[in-house]
Parts: sequence; C-alpha cells; structure tokens
Amino acid sequence: MKRVGIIGVGEYLPKKVLTNLDLEKKVDTSDEWITTRTGIKTRRLAAHGQACSDLAINAAREALEDAKICSADVELIIVATITPDMQFPSTACFVQSALRARRAVCFDVSAACAGFVYALVIAQQFIARGTYKNALIIGSEVLSSITDWKDRNTCVLFGDGAGAAVLAPVSSGGILSTYLGSDGSLSNLLMLPGGGSRHPASHRSIDMRMHYIKMRGNELFKFAVKIMSEAALQVLKLAGLESKDVDWVIPHQANTRILLSMAKKINLPKEKIFLNIDRYGNMSSASTATALYEAVKSNCIKKGDIVLLDAFGGGLVWGACVVRW
Ligand code: UT7
Repeated sequence: MKRVGIIGVGEYLPKKVLTNLDLEKKVDTSDEWITTRTGIKTRRLAAHGQACSDLAINAAREALEDAKICSADVELIIVATITPDMQFPSTACFVQSALRARRAVCFDVSAACAGFVYALVIAQQFIARGTYKNALIIGSEVLSSITDWKDRNTCVLFGDGAGAAVLAPVSSGGILSTYLGSDGSLSNLLMLPGGGSRHPASHRSIDMRMHYIKMRGNELFKFAVKIMSEAALQVLKLAGLESKDVDWVIPHQANTRILLSMAKKINLPKEKIFLNIDRYGNMSSASTATALYEAVKSNCIKKGDIVLLDAFGGGLVWGACVVRW
C-alpha cells in the first residue's frame, strides 16, 4: 500500500457578500442573535446562474496549479456536494469537461457536510492500492439554491463556496488514519425532502416548500458535539496519537459553539481549531475544504504538523482523518 498525501489545495468563493444586517431585512433575526448563537458574520452567495461546477472548477484549477499537476494527467475526480448542477450527469463530469481532464474517472459523493472527508478517504483507497496515480477532490456547494429565505431557523446559517485538494503518493508524512461512520436512523434531522424519487417536483412539493433544507438544529447540535468528539478520538487512536499531539483541527464549520464544546470535550486548546465560519457560514462539503486551504495558505499549518480533519452532516454521517503535513 502506498502512502498518500495532500499535495495541493485550492479555493473559490463567490464575490457577493451577505451580512447579518442584510438578513435582518429579510427575516425576523438580528446580528446579535446570529453572532452569539453561531459565530457567523457574513457568507458568500453565488451569482445568478452560477452553479456548483462553476465554483468547483475555479477551486480545482488552483489546487492543480498548487500541486503542479496538469489537468490532462488527472486520473480521478470526485466532487462532494448536495447541490449538484443537475441530478445527473455528475458534477464531477462537468468539472472534467471544463478542465479537459480526459483521462479522469469521475463521480460525485453524497455525504453532505462530511462529503469532503468521504471523498478524501475514497481517493486515498484508490491511490494507496495503485489503481490511480492521483486524485482531484472537491467540496463545492451552492447552498443558496436550496435555502428557504423565509425560514430564519436555517437561512442565516448557510453560504456558497468551493475548496479542492490534490492527492498523490508521498514519500513521508501524508494520511496516517481515517475514520468514517453513518447512522441513517437519524436522517430526519437534516434533509432536503423534495426533488428525488420519494417526492418528485410537483405543484404540491413546491407549495409545501419541500425543495429547501429542513433541519432540526437543536437535536443536531447535541449530536454534532458528541460525534465530532468521538470521531476525533477514534481517528487519533488509529494513528497512535492523542489530543495533545494535534497541531490543527480543520473541522466542518456548522457552529462555533459546537466546535468549542468539542475542543473542551477532547481536551484540546480552542486556539487549535481553525475557524472560517465567521466569514463564510456553513458551506457543507466546502467548509472543511476551504478551512484546510486557508489554514495552509495562511501558514498556520506547517510541514510536519499533525492535522485533524473532522466533519459530520446530513445522513447522518461523519468522518475524520489525521494527516502529517
Ligand atoms: O452542517 C451540519 C448541520 N447543521 C448543524 O449542525 C447545525 C446545528 N445546530 C445549530 O447550530 C443550532 O441549533 C442553531 C444555530 C441552528 C440554533 O441555535 P439554538 O441555540 O439551538 O437555538 P434554538 O433552535 O434552540 O432556538 C432558540 C430560539 C427559538 O426561539 P424560542 O422558541 O426560544 O422563542 C428560535 O425560534 O431562537 C429562535 N431563533 C432565532 N431567533 C433569531 C431561531 N433562529 C433564529 C434567528 N434569529 N435566525
């Protein structure tokens, strides 16, 4: 089995900024409530007509450049998303076409906010076994397209963006351990009920606002703290490490309070949690991906650092990964 590492990262964020003050004009909320309950101040919104692959392509180009890999040499493209351009073809195929990455095998992964970690673990398997020499993984979301702008419980939380990474064999460091989990019995806590084969689009589904995110935030919150802590401890154990060995946690950014509670639970200084939720809100699969990009590009993560990726989301699903940078 080959050792696999992350050899390049990229990011793309749409230009339009939506502030808490803008949201005060849309729904019955306040900057104070959003800031104290979630940690979010602003989020980005895709332009009209800008789809998931448009964001993904920009992040992918930067990651390939960073990895010094030509798109013609890419062997695997995985897009993690819950807001694909279309039900099919996969968004990964649209990305392949735009990049002219003709050799690449392409598919999407549906693991909601844990999608980027799921994509990373899948790609690692293919490279470790020698099936493919490299992989481009992307977390890309246009959550504004499935946000109910009349529901204050959810519309203040989400944003649009994309992050990407290139994986390849490395001679030292790289991915030390991975840990994935799922519990479908809790699927009712977070879902988009309309538009699939259970409730195809109809006048009724639209009238019932079924094409928007439905979330039971409070129950999710408690579960998130528990499962992110458990996943962190499990994946560290698999790597033969402890909390004290971690230099940076790159978590899914659902709520600052979830992350601070998790840090406390696993005995980790809160300064080691990398946050970008204040600027971008929750971007589902793109949150972990962009946090990783920003932690690397701002020189927070340094060569040799132990980096812990930790995410959870609708499914419910969760995933964690330890990387020596
Ligand atoms: O990405 C993975 C999935 N997402 C998550 O993991 C999200 C996890 N959950 C959370 O982050 C939090 O539960 C929320 C931020 C969604 C909500 O925070 P909370 O502290 O759990 O609030 P709550 O749902 O218990 O609601 C408290 C109050 C309610 O009013 P009453 O019933 O006490 O009068 C809500 O109606 O806050 C009210 N509320 C708001 N008030 C102002 C809910 N949303 C808003 C809002 N502005 N936007």
